[in-house]
Amino acid sequence: MNAVIYASRGGNTRKLADAVAGGAGVKAQAIADAVDLAQVDILFIGASLYAGRINKGLRQFLQALKEKQAAKAVVFGTSASGKSALAEIKSILESRGIPVSPEAFHCKGSFLCVNSGHPNTDDLARAGEFAKRVCDGGL
Ligand SMILES: Cc1cc2nc3c(=O)[nH]c(=O)nc-3n(C[C@H](O)[C@H](O)[C@H](O)COP(=O)(O)O)c2cc1C
Repeated sequence: MNAVIYASRGGNTRKLADAVAGGAGVKAQAIADAVDLAQVDILFIGASLYAGRINKGLRQFLQALKEKQAAKAVVFGTSASGKSALAEIKSILESRGIPVSPEAFHCKGSFLCVNSGHPNTDDLARAGEFAKRVCDGGL
């Protein structure tokens, strides 16, 4: 079984999470709704950057994951700069015994007057295809 969890303050990463979940054939869960996360094969994690870091609630959620709760984690997300949350998530999860795929999906997210309209329909389609490839073992 696979799962998609995410944290999103403004809705950009939630849109991406829904697209990733569509590609993975599951339902996306906001971290607040994912407290009873079962042991999973692939754990997709959606994150944005705020002042260069991931959301505090997501950090606490990841730190509380049980060792080997997921066979592997795959990161996706949005940010204004184009920088990904992969490095921060990788350092948390690998200390918990959960390997993190070097393959991640990242796109621009709207912020104030930059990246207006992102993630857009093309970003969402690519996110869904990415998740499908991961689940089919192609990544
Ligand atoms: C308070 C705040 C701080 C942010 N800091 C950064 C940042 O350091 N680097 C960056 O690339 N984007 C930054 N952003 C932009 C967000 O990462 C971007 O808008 C993202 O798509 C938000 O995702 P969300 O709508 O799912 O919360 C910031 C946004 C906010 C609201």
